[in-house]
Amino acid sequence: MSENVTVVAVDGPAASGKSTVSRVLAKKLGYLYVDTGAMYRAITWKALEENIDVDDTIAVIAMMHRIKIDFELVDKQVRMLIDGVYPGSAIREPRVTGKVSTIAAIPEVRQVLVHHQRSLTKFGNLVMEGRDIGSVVFPDTPHKFYLEASPEVRAERRKRDLEAMEIPASQEGVKESLQLRDRKDSVRSASPLQIALGATVIENSHLSIEENANVILDHIRQQSLRRGSFSAGGA
Ligand code: DC
Repeated sequence: MSENVTVVAVDGPAASGKSTVSRVLAKKLGYLYVDTGAMYRAITWKALEENIDVDDTIAVIAMMHRIKIDFELVDKQVRMLIDGVYPGSAIREPRVTGKVSTIAAIPEVRQVLVHHQRSLTKFGNLVMEGRDIGSVVFPDTPHKFYLEASPEVRAERRKRDLEAMEIPASQEGVKESLQLRDRKDSVRSASPLQIALGATVIENSHLSIEENANVILDHIRQQSLRRGSFSAGGA
């Protein structure tokens, strides 16, 4: 990581509020926002577009070698393009959500994406959210957070997200699919979901987005004061 760039790592299970909190936090800090889950989803989307069986690891790896990955900055958000295309909301479709854990468990896919994620410091200070940001992508950042919420609260949040996209969902169905994905993300051998060494764990079931972002901001301020550096505020 470049010495002059600050990375805030926000990890946690699905629907733990990472995206919304990270967006608000990035805005407050004046940092760029990076959603790494969107990158694994975009690779999954591309594989499905090409009719590749995601269980066919060799075919997925071959696709990884074939495609061209680029990044663009839009509204202080880093977006990944595959062969020049930004897939947009298609990466949130259930067919992608159902397969993304399989793609994210392939070490070669992770290797390529982690390499790109590290390169994003070229754009400036980052709030990066995912599953392995504090443990693998930027293990040296002093600013690591792990968000958690109860299964019920997470299912309710995800159900609301899906309904906003006009995708019908039942509370029980969503809860089950979240649990299945968490299990897959936690037991895989390549960079499983885990609390990074030195991460601050925040249980946010009863926190608003604003409150959660402010808790993180307070921690960052204290951590930075202790280290004698703080570059927030449009830095
Ligand atoms: O945060 P999300 O639900 O959009 O993530 C989609 C999938 O990608 C999820 O199953 C876990 C995986 N993922 C990962 O393995 N590593 C990351 N850094 C981010 C996401």
